[in-house]
Order: sequence, then structure tokens, then C-alpha cells
Amino acid sequence: MEIVRCRDYEEMSSKAADIVCEEIGKRPDLVLGLATGSTPLGLYRELIDRYGKGTVSFKKIKTVNLDEYVGLGEDDAQSYAYYMRSNLFSHIDIAPGNTHIPDGKNADHESECSKYDAVIDELGGVDVQILGIGHDGHIGFNEPGNAFIPRTHRVKLTEETIEANKRFFERRADVPKFAYTMGIRDIFRARKIIFLVSGKDKAGIIREALKGPITPEVPASILQLHSNVILIGEDKALELLDE
Ligand code: PGA
Repeated sequence: MEIVRCRDYEEMSSKAADIVCEEIGKRPDLVLGLATGSTPLGLYRELIDRYGKGTVSFKKIKTVNLDEYVGLGEDDAQSYAYYMRSNLFSHIDIAPGNTHIPDGKNADHESECSKYDAVIDELGGVDVQILGIGHDGHIGFNEPGNAFIPRTHRVKLTEETIEANKRFFERRADVPKFAYTMGIRDIFRARKIIFLVSGKDKAGIIREALKGPITPEVPASILQLHSNVILIGEDKALELLDE
């Protein structure tokens, strides 16, 4: 795994944007896997900035997001569909029809999951996947458990995830209890993974994920087996890796 150490969040975001733009340059119709949360916000700001300067176009790319809360629709300010629109899509030249996110409003989880799998299959899988990590080691919303779940599924969010994400909601009780998430197989099949990690609070889990055993109890640990992961992290998030 290539590890790129950055002095701060801005450098991490800018290095990630360099790679995304380079990949789009090589393949203008790239399938880009997208993540939400705080970590990729700086990357999205950089991409918007570069688009504004005319150095990149998203006209032909296709995107697939990792996950969505069950019960929230695209007009809910806490949904990931809303997040993507306000933090990236509405500021760049991407075609709305080329963006894909599970439909949190579809209560029929079996149909939603198989629909999303079909979307991923039709796109031929993800070329470049942006990935963060949760404090419990989740990637997407693949929470710790006793098996790696290969494809899109409905997942019960852990208390740790609900605790971490309550900052985006008015009350803790408002955080949805379930989410739809892309499965481990489809994340793992991405041809390149840009793994972003920021904040000192992630130092412990990133060490566990990269230096500990490969186990579904730490879903990100599966990335140890992937042959094309670039970990771009703030120094303080990577400080325990050398111990
Ligand atoms: P964060 O979330 O970027 O807001 O820390 C990461 C994640 O939960 O995957």
C-alpha cells in the first residue's frame, strides 16, 4: 500500500484531487466511487475549484456513492444525496443522470439492494473509489461483524457510528438506525482506491486496520489485500502506524 503523509487536511485534499483529476484526464468517462462524511469535503472543494479554473471536466464521468441512510430522501438535508448535491454535484458539470446513490426512501430493501447492484454491474464496477474509515473500522457503512458482506445490503448502524454521526442531526434520536451500503466485494473490486484519513482520532483504528489481522470485525482491514490502494493521510492520523 502506498502511503502519502500530509502535514495537514488541505495537503491531503489537494493530493487526492491531483490523483482524481489525473485519472479523469486518462479516462474522461471514469466510474468514480464517492464517499460522504467530513473527510472528503476538502477534496470536493478542490475539485470544484479546479473545475472553476477549467482544468477538469466531469461531463462524462459516472459516479456511484457508497451509501445512504434508510428513510431519508434527496430533499432531506442529512441525506447523502443532499450532501452530494450541495457539496459537489451542483457546482460542477456532471450530468445528474450519471450520478448514483441508493434510494433511502425505498423501504423495500431487497429491491433497493438488487437495483443498486445492477447499477454497479451495468457500469462495469468502480474504477477509482474514494474511501474514508469510521471509528469502528467501517468502510462505506460496512459495519464490524462476523462476515464480509459482498454486495449492497441494508445494515444496522452501530452505536459508535450513530454517536459519530449525530453531529449532523439536531438530536441523536434523529440519526437513522439503518443504511444501505455498497458491499465489500464491490469496494474491493475498484481498480484504484484513494483511502483518505484525517484527524488524530482515527490514528488508532487506522493502525488496527492496516497492522492488525484481516477480519470482518475491522472491515477496512480487507484493504491490506488490495493491490492498488493509495492511503493519503494527515500525519497525525498516521502517527501510530510506525509503532
Ligand atoms: P468521517 O466519516 O469522514 O465523517 O469521519 C468517515 C466514515 O464514517 O466512513
